[in-house]
Amino acid sequence: MSAVPARFSRIVGTGSFLPPDQVSNAQLAARLAADGIETSDEWIVERTGIRFRHFAESHVTSSDLGAEAARRALAAADCDPQAIDLIIVATSTPDMVFPSAACMVQEKLGIHGCAAFDVQAVCSGFVYALSVADSMIKTGLASKALVIGAEVFSRILDFSDRTTCVLFGDGAGAVVLEASEAPGILGTELHADGRHVGILCVPGTVSGGKVLGDPLLKMDGPAVFKLAVSVLDSVARSVLAKAGRTEADIDWLIPHQANIRIMQSTAKKLKLAPEKLIVTVDRHGNTSAASIPLALDDAVRSGKIKRGDTVMLEGVGGGFTWGATLFDF
Ligand code: UT7
Repeated sequence: MSAVPARFSRIVGTGSFLPPDQVSNAQLAARLAADGIETSDEWIVERTGIRFRHFAESHVTSSDLGAEAARRALAAADCDPQAIDLIIVATSTPDMVFPSAACMVQEKLGIHGCAAFDVQAVCSGFVYALSVADSMIKTGLASKALVIGAEVFSRILDFSDRTTCVLFGDGAGAVVLEASEAPGILGTELHADGRHVGILCVPGTVSGGKVLGDPLLKMDGPAVFKLAVSVLDSVARSVLAKAGRTEADIDWLIPHQANIRIMQSTAKKLKLAPEKLIVTVDRHGNTSAASIPLALDDAVRSGKIKRGDTVMLEGVGGGFTWGATLFDF
């Protein structure tokens, strides 16, 4: 009897999309100053590394951004959209309470019948979604998946709170993940600690036709910062150990793009050369679940990440959630 070939998943194409309205720190500071809110390019760059973010027009939704990122990933993979049998969208800013943004992306791509659902793990969402798709491919439930991170965080920002509104932006990134006899994805680890729900949340909800509670983002930045730097290098090491690799095998590190100081500290703890850190937070701001696939696509298209390179993705965010995925591109 011949052995059944091992089944893995690998990324065969990446894509991303940013809404065209690029807003610099100076432009944002001027808009906020009109409402008596004081901030500056200097403070934002020094504390976060952010210089620009993109804001979607009011009629543009997460599924619009996600569908465009998906089209670009499908083109990069030279993949017929009809071959897709799974769509997962990681988002905390879906178009509606339900149905999922994934169903709307499916409709916008003109493909019908395949499984489609959202994953909600805030800024760790893409790592969570990729892990779900990888598991479904490995178990034979899917063969060709679109995994998308898409957000319009501008919709949930409190523009009277300078401690949060300067940090976030809108955008989407996507990958086509395909069944393969060789990996691909080498290892993943996911975590959550619900004791920290309150340090990063949008506490409002819809009930009886009304919004109950505050529907805008709240964050205890220093508390999130502290937790993020405490978990990111350990989860990366744990994934490396599971995959039988070491820090020296990492060609590129793509952490969630929230704050350059957190990202640099993680790279340093992993003893990685600074140039192995992929940085887009300066141009994109924090786009939550979209930040990692946006950075991945940016690095692939700019020629940094090449076929065969080993890449570590790391998500961290509200929940508190965190996780990492190691893959050979
Ligand atoms: O996406 C999920 C993951 N999220 C993150 O990883 C975010 C983690 N946290 C952070 O990145 C940082 O904590 C922040 C960037 C949010 C804040 O930086 P910080 O160095 O922790 O500053 P802070 O909150 O301790 O505030 C320092 C000072 C305060 O003034 P006082 O009290 O020292 O007088 C703030 O009021 O900076 C002030 N401040 C600002 N000043 C100008 C806060 N926001 C602003 C602002 N412009 N936009």
